[in-house]
Parts: sequence; C-alpha cells; structure tokens
Amino acid sequence: MKATPHESAHLHVAGEARYIDDIPEIAGTVHTALGLSDKAHARITAMDLSAVRQSPGVLLVITAEDIPGENNCGPIVHDDPILADGLVQYVGQPIFAVYAESYEQARIAARKADISYDELPAVMSPEEARKQESYVVPPMQLVRGNARAAIDRAAHRLSGQLSVGGQEHFYLEGQISYVLPTEDDGFHVHCSTQHPTEMQTILCHLLNLSAHQVVVEMRRMGGGFGGKESQSALFCCVAALGAHRLGRPVKLRLDRDDDMMISGKRHCFHYDYEVGYDDEGRIQAARVELVSRAGFSADLSAPVATRAVCHFDNAYYLNEVDIQAFCGKTNTQSNTAFRGFGGPQGAIAIEYIIDNMARDLGRDPLEIRKVNFYGKQERNTTPYGQPVVDNVIHELVAELETSSDYAGRRQACRDFNLGSPILKKGIALTPLKFGISFNVVHFNQAGALVHVYTDGSVLVNHGGTEMGQGLNTKVAQVVAAELGISVNRVRSSAADTSKVANTSATAASTGADLNGKAAENAARQIRTRLAEFAARRHGGTADDVIFSQDTVTANGVETAFPQLIMEAYTNRVQLWSDGFYATPDLHWDKDSMTGRPFYYFAYGASVSEVIVDTLTGEWKLLQTDLLHDAGNPINRHIDIGQIEGAFIQGMGWLTSEELCWNDQGRLTTHAPSTYKIPASNDCPAIFNTRLFDNQNHEDTVMRSKAVGEPPLLLPFSVFFAIRDAIASLAAYQVNPTLTAPATPEAILSAIDSVSTHS
Ligand code: MTE
Ligand code: MOS
Repeated sequence: MKATPHESAHLHVAGEARYIDDIPEIAGTVHTALGLSDKAHARITAMDLSAVRQSPGVLLVITAEDIPGENNCGPIVHDDPILADGLVQYVGQPIFAVYAESYEQARIAARKADISYDELPAVMSPEEARKQESYVVPPMQLVRGNARAAIDRAAHRLSGQLSVGGQEHFYLEGQISYVLPTEDDGFHVHCSTQHPTEMQTILCHLLNLSAHQVVVEMRRMGGGFGGKESQSALFCCVAALGAHRLGRPVKLRLDRDDDMMISGKRHCFHYDYEVGYDDEGRIQAARVELVSRAGFSADLSAPVATRAVCHFDNAYYLNEVDIQAFCGKTNTQSNTAFRGFGGPQGAIAIEYIIDNMARDLGRDPLEIRKVNFYGKQERNTTPYGQPVVDNVIHELVAELETSSDYAGRRQACRDFNLGSPILKKGIALTPLKFGISFNVVHFNQAGALVHVYTDGSVLVNHGGTEMGQGLNTKVAQVVAAELGISVNRVRSSAADTSKVANTSATAASTGADLNGKAAENAARQIRTRLAEFAARRHGGTADDVIFSQDTVTANGVETAFPQLIMEAYTNRVQLWSDGFYATPDLHWDKDSMTGRPFYYFAYGASVSEVIVDTLTGEWKLLQTDLLHDAGNPINRHIDIGQIEGAFIQGMGWLTSEELCWNDQGRLTTHAPSTYKIPASNDCPAIFNTRLFDNQNHEDTVMRSKAVGEPPLLLPFSVFFAIRDAIASLAAYQVNPTLTAPATPEAILSAIDSVSTHS
C-alpha cells in the first residue's frame, strides 16, 4: 500500500483541524463549571450555594436533586453519580454544576460554594482495599491445574510483591462537550468521545429521552487513549442537563487541572506472586494476585482486570496457574480504560518474575524468556484455553536479537560497567503478545455507510472515532482499494449516531479491524452493482470487470471511474450502500474465564539500552530497537507512528509519570507542572522501528493486525534495562526492588536495596 498521509495531517500542522472548542459558538451559548468535593470520603451535611447563584453571569446551578432521570453515568455498573448525592467519595468529585454567560464567570462562581461535610474513613491504596475486602466488582479467578501443588514440587521457587503505578491520559484536548437543543425536544451533541453510542444512551437515561431524539457527533478527538471511552459521559451529561433546563446551547470544557482532578486514569496494580520453575528456568506453575486501584466506582475496572488476567501469560506458556484479580475500591478518581486496557499491567508482572528468576539462576533474562515462550504445536494453550496458533515470537525475537546486536551490546554494557563506578549501563530485550478483540463478544461488530456521488467522489461514514490514530485514513484506504480508485477521491466523515447506529466504542485496538471490514463490505456491494452494470453495457461477465487506477475495465472497454458513475446514476443504479461486520468465532465464559476471546494475537519485541547515574538516579535512554507485528499493514507509516507513540507513552508510564495523593486524599500531581510526561528529548538518540513481515493468518481487513495498543508493552525493555543497570552494582547477583514508575527516587531506593545486600 502506498504511503498515504493521515487524512488530517495538513490540518493538524496548520492548526486548522477543527476540534469541538473550535466550532464557532452559536449565539446564546452558555458555559459551565463544576463544583468539586474537597473531601475524600464524607457525607454532605449542608450545602449553601446562594453565593454561587448570585455570582455575576450565573444563569443556573444544578445539584443531584435537579436530575430528571437517572443520576448515573457508569457504563456497566450503575454506581457512578453524575453529581454526588449526599455522599462524596473522592477529592475532585463533582457536586454541582454552574451555568453562566461566560466561561470565567462559571469558574469564578463555582468557587463560592459553602459545603459542610461529616468525614468518613477513606481507603487510599489497593493494598488497603484488599485488606478490607472492599471491591467495586466481585473478585475473579482463572485456574488451570493445581498451581499450589506444582509450585511446592518445583526445584526452584520464588515469591514476592510488585507495584506498578497508574497513568494520567494527558490527551492534548481535554474533556469537552457542546450540546445544542434542537426542535421537538431533540439534542445535537458534540462530544469528545470514543463512544458516541454510549453517550447517546446515557443522555437518554438522564433526560428520559428516546435514542432517536439524540444525535451524537464526533469529528475527531485530540487524543483519547481510553480516557474518553466511558469518562466523557459525565461532562456530556452535565452539558445536556443545562441545555435541557435553559433551552440554550451549553458547552462544558474542562480546565486541565479540573480534568485531572475529576477523571479516572490507568489503574495502578499491586501484585503478590509465587512461581515454581526447573533448573532450565522453565516455569512449572504460577500463582498471582492482581489488585488494582479501581477508584470509587466500577467504571471499566472489571473488563480491565479481565484483560490483565488474560495477559499475565504475555508470550509464555504457563502450565498450571492460579490468577486472581481484585478491583480495590478506593477513595480516588474512578479508574478506566487506558491504552492496553489492563494488558500491560498483566504482562509486566510475569516479566518481572522472569527477570528475577534469571538473576537467581545467574542467566541472561533473555534466555529464560525464550525457554518459556509458547510452543508452536505443543505448550501452546493459554491459561484461558485458547490455543495460540499464530505464534511468531521465536522468529521475531531472533530477528531483533540479531538486528540490534543484543549479545554484543550486552557484553559491551558489562565491560563498560567494570570501568565505570558511578554511571552504569543496562540493556534488556522484552517480547509481547497481545490479544485482539473485545472480551465481550457482542461488542465485536461494526457498521459503515459508503456514498458514491455522481462526480465520482466518495464519502465514507463508519462507527469508529478518530483520535489521531489514523482510523479514518485507513478506512478511506480500504474503500479506495475496494473501488480501485485513488484515496484522495475518498473522504471520511464525522462519526455520527444518526448515520451508523448502535456502535461499539473505538477501543481494544479494534477500530480498523471492525470498521475497515464494515466499510469494505459496503464498498464491495457498490462495486458488485457497478460491475454488473458495466458488464451489461459492454459485455463480458461482472466477475471479469476490473477496478483499478480510477478506471473500470469491462470486456476490454475502459471507462474513467467518474464517467462510469455518472452512467450508472442515469441508469438508476444504487450508488451507496451500508456495510456490516461481526468478528467470527469468538466466545467467552466470564465465570470460568475461558474461551476464545481473541480473534488473533499481535506480537512484538524491543531492545533498550540505558545509562543510569547511580548517585542521582537520573537516567537516559541511549538506544531502542523495536520490531513489531502489524500484519500486512494498511498504512505502514501510520503504524510506525502508532508503535513509536505507544512506546514513548508506555515509557512515561513506567518511568516518569507519577500520580501522588496527599494525606487528605488530594491528587497533588494534577497539572503538567507536577506530572511529568516524556518530552521530545526523552526519545532515544538511536530509535530504530521496523515492522515484522507477517500476514495475518486470519481474514482481517487486508490481512492487517491491530496496532493501537499492543506496542504499549514495548517499553518494558526500558524498565528492565534500568533494573539491569542497577543490578550491576551487585555483580548481577541480587534482584533490585524496583517499583514503577522508575523515577530517580525509585531508582535510588532500588540502588539501596542492592547495596544493603552486598
Ligand atoms: N493514537 C493516538 N494518536 N491517539 C489516541 O488517543 N488511542 C489508543 C490507540 N492509539 C490513541 C492512539 C487506544 S487506547 C486505542 S484502543 C486505539 O488507538 C483505538 O484506535 P484503533 O482501534 O483504531 O486502533
Ligand atoms: Mo483503548 S484503552 O481500548 O481506548
């Protein structure tokens, strides 16, 4: 496939891509701000909002009592109030909404509330929630064999704990909704969301409306990363409440600090593990308890935990397992989807375990990784019962090992360290395997609508949302390929619930797989009609008509695509079509946690080399080599962008991005000044990214593979390279106790952990 730039690239760079806040405001637009809880857990005993109401420009103040329908924006469990109703459960929870003539007036007024609380004990950490057995959803367990007995029988045993922090989404465009009342009690909603249909549904419950009264439109997001899958709902609801009451257009655009205080993030996880293995380092059995910080409500915590359980194996065959997952209820923001959706949190645990085993055995961690890889014919069934039939991890890792000169550079790091007492180098190679599809089978469906206009231009609409990942570009490419026309004849339009109904979230990396197939299906129907028409006109059979390079050839007669379209139109051929796709052969039993939840797996591996200053804990990434399996890519440049972006984003999660809550339960890292995302100078000077040549063995769109989330696991190599550098201080004999994020502080503490041993 030719290199096709992102369909909005020219708009992005010129600042002309229109985001919701760029939509010219309709006269009379009202602005909104939210009043937030100061307490982590408390009953509201009194609330005086008179000063808020009297503040200049204020038109309306709303509390939970004013909600006509359901006061809930929770996607699965209905435990997520839009506005707190008597009980607050985290610092930052919205209690009331102020609607004013201007954005500033709304914000100023929101500060004037006088609220009295009766404080209750707050639970802040997942470990504490586990101790109190306080969960947002029932615990889950996946068992195969008898792990306990197998661990006891094993030649070697290892047990320990690990904690891995959460992550703020830090989408460049914050949460925003702009709701316009339309005639006859209708609403037109612009919402920065990955899930327009869910916004529609939740608004209907909130305002007692029917779905046909609400249109949700989404042209593009300035990043979502999972943070706008469910969490856009609260803001959408608050804007809609105002529009409903005032009969005026209402916009809610969050200030960055409020966004970070209110919205949920990646779940931090705490692990308690135990493995048994043989002299070769082959794992016989593993037992692990995953405890996540769910926050105060369920949100997507259950599906995130499910994906963590299904990714604890990563690329390794685990014979007997006992994996338990607990979603700890804490008095913090309600955590949610974040790129990888629990997969990274599941897989990092087994990587940590293997890293420890290798040092205990005095071997290179890569050797132990390889010994445990899934086999091709045997040792190839996942703990959840799905056979791994598309395994390429052996060849992929071998290729990367050679291309990156892993062995040579590993020796060079060791040699360097012998002569360098303070600066220490480390290197690691980590693999990944990531399952593609939603575990909930019925989400794996999509629709599309393709219009061919009489001038030969094409407009495609599909159920997915564009958040920068290039979905619209890929879908346009698929339609262009199907019709044999150049991609610049095809335009993708905004996701819109009135065009394609009942859509799934653009999530789980399935956007292109599902919507690409649906659009292909629509385009194919048009093409079939055109072929029949051309054959009728010029002779030959419809099957022999060729669509290529903007020309349709039937029985040797060439017609330019636009001309054929005009002729077809005048002969009353239908030039538009809908399309549908449902991923085949999926099943999942959520009680036993077994089935075939994934259509296929994506694979990848990375090598990172770091240098650590053991006096300050500062470090630098010197070189990274990535090799990733995107199948037969629809757009290799967009895929490389996704791979590099995910790598850097995941590196931020594991190294510099730290969420801190103080004694009062207040998130203190709620702005770019205190929360450190990677910047351009954190990219390694040598950054080699390549795609692994591998057609999808399943019949996916153009035999491609999903690429949005799997590469978020690539930066594991950075974390383990840092750990390798620290281990050099004790001659690689001791396992450093390194938590993620590996901030300089955590690195210094890990250095202490090895020094006290030596
Ligand atoms: N890339 C960009 N630029 N912006 C984003 O918000 N989200 C990621 C990934 N890549 C995201 C992104 C997440 S969390 C997912 S699930 C996928 O894109 C969703 O899109 P896809 O299914 O079309 O790959
Ligand atoms: Mo992505 S976390 O599935 O939105």
